[in-house]
Amino acid sequence: MKYRLKFIKGIKDFVLEDLQTNFTDKYTITSQTETTISFESDILDIDEFRTLKTVLHIALINDDGSISVERNLFKREWRKHLVPAGINPTLAYVMCKAGELSNEDIVMDPFCGGGTIPVTALLDFDVQKVLASDISSKAVSFTKQNFIEAKINKNKYSIFISDIKRLRIQKGYLTKVITNMPFGIRAGKHNKNMELYKAFINFSYSALTANGKVVAFTTEKILLLENIKDKFSIEKEIKIAQGGLYPSIFILKKI
Ligand SMILES: C[S@@+](CC[C@H](N)C(=O)[O-])C[C@H]1O[C@@H](n2cnc3c(N)ncnc32)[C@H](O)[C@@H]1O
Repeated sequence: MKYRLKFIKGIKDFVLEDLQTNFTDKYTITSQTETTISFESDILDIDEFRTLKTVLHIALINDDGSISVERNLFKREWRKHLVPAGINPTLAYVMCKAGELSNEDIVMDPFCGGGTIPVTALLDFDVQKVLASDISSKAVSFTKQNFIEAKINKNKYSIFISDIKRLRIQKGYLTKVITNMPFGIRAGKHNKNMELYKAFINFSYSALTANGKVVAFTTEKILLLENIKDKFSIEKEIKIAQGGLYPSIFILKKI
């Protein structure tokens, strides 16, 4: 059977790892581009590939190149309530993977929107605990409802309203801060983001353990990098291309 995967530009290494982990020797790659991988496999049922968490779409391809059967793989059953600028769940998964989340982590998303990243951290990476906050009461309510949809144990999370500029957590409590930051792409928003990015870095520095890390998704690269001086260094940058924007996932470690 011939299959073709589609994914977001910039994350191919994660898709290859996802394929390898899930289907070790059950596939042979025949061609690749920056956003597709084609492979042959004896697996007959396309739905077996639903375990791939980094993939947007899979198609079973006929010999003439036409599509026989296809599935969207980015949808998540629990994701019933979405905020504008919500992150694609495949990118949320890649962020958690890049941040090496594990069951030892206490994680926070201080711009949680609809909660896509916190739910992914708990469901797919089994982190010890998640804190999620947002300035918007609507976003917080959406996150709470998505957590209920995902049937996550209430002892594993805490969700609350907070402006990042006022957010305070016990020093050194968190092991990872992982978030999709507000992007200031529209005129007039950029200045507001200056304050917000500064507050975000100060908060993360104080709330993280000495080995703690930030995983931040943003287009505001200069703004982020201006604010990390003396506090964090860049461990890794994963460059993404999506919908005409060029955000990156930054992994920052405390200096
Ligand atoms: C890009 S969205 C996050 C989307 C989320 N990752 C998702 O998938 O649903 C950014 C969020 O930052 C929140 N936000 C903006 N300014 C804030 C502030 N000063 N403090 C806390 N949250 C803020 C917005 O309400 C919005 O929900």
